[in-house]
Amino acid sequence: MTSNKVLFNLVISFITNITSSSSGSNVDNNNGSILIQSNKHRKQVGAAGVKSSSKSIGVVIGSTRKGRIGKDVAQWVIEQSHIEPILKQYTNSSSSKVELIDLLDINLPFYDESLSPAELNGQLSSENALKWSKLMSSYDAYIILTAEYNRGPVPVLLNAIDYLYAEIKQKPMVLISYGYTQGGIRANEHLADMLENSFLSMKILSRLHLPIREDMFVVKSFDSNSNSNSNSNTRYKQLKDINNSFKPYLVDLNQSVAQLLHFISS
Ligand SMILES: Cc1cc2nc3c(=O)[nH]c(=O)nc-3n(C[C@H](O)[C@H](O)[C@H](O)COP(=O)(O)O)c2cc1C
Repeated sequence: MTSNKVLFNLVISFITNITSSSSGSNVDNNNGSILIQSNKHRKQVGAAGVKSSSKSIGVVIGSTRKGRIGKDVAQWVIEQSHIEPILKQYTNSSSSKVELIDLLDINLPFYDESLSPAELNGQLSSENALKWSKLMSSYDAYIILTAEYNRGPVPVLLNAIDYLYAEIKQKPMVLISYGYTQGGIRANEHLADMLENSFLSMKILSRLHLPIREDMFVVKSFDSNSNSNSNSNTRYKQLKDINNSFKPYLVDLNQSVAQLLHFISS
């Protein structure tokens, strides 16, 4: 059996064995990453995976800057957790899907509506905001990623969240942060408080912090032809080998994903 197949089976068996025996939160930091699992949203285990019902999960890349690592981290999450094949198997539906959502493609203006999103009831004045609202309302659950910028979540992500209300209200999600030393713990806590304790009342099933270190990066230069502004900085830092660098965080990632899959399919 290949190691991917072994991992796949382990996650399936983990999902199947999740129980709702305790309350409160579990903190697990044995692997370098820090996983905080919330038990308050756990459901009683039924005969999950038997009925056929398609589900979709949106994975939001929280950063948009040139040379960001956010997209690589989001792709690592999707690929290394095998979330889509497991979701299809667990929901017994080949229509179930996991999609990457890139705020760079959405290109939202700063929130400047005359009312709050709860009062607007989806009647947003910008075309891009309407597309964003429609896209986000189409998912059953989310994995939201944020980097830590100045001890907080990425402002572009906060602006994007400001547009939402009914689209994501009370829906389940996993929150993943990354940053130096503590894996963006302050950004993670700030964003968790916003998403869970505001009117959005999202169900954060687990929170994962992924620490990055200088030795994980290599400094590169953008292709000079692709950069029209000659005054702009052409250097950026790229993760050398994300699979290898993030290997210690894989167990925690799989636990988080398993919890989300179990929640939406039972
Ligand atoms: C504006 C800015 C502020 C930052 N502030 C922090 C910080 O407070 N804590 C931290 O751990 N890393 C900080 N960093 C480093 C980021 O964690 C690191 O650059 C990471 O790659 C950012 O994610 P991104 O590449 O997806 O944008 C900061 C980076 C930027 C660009």
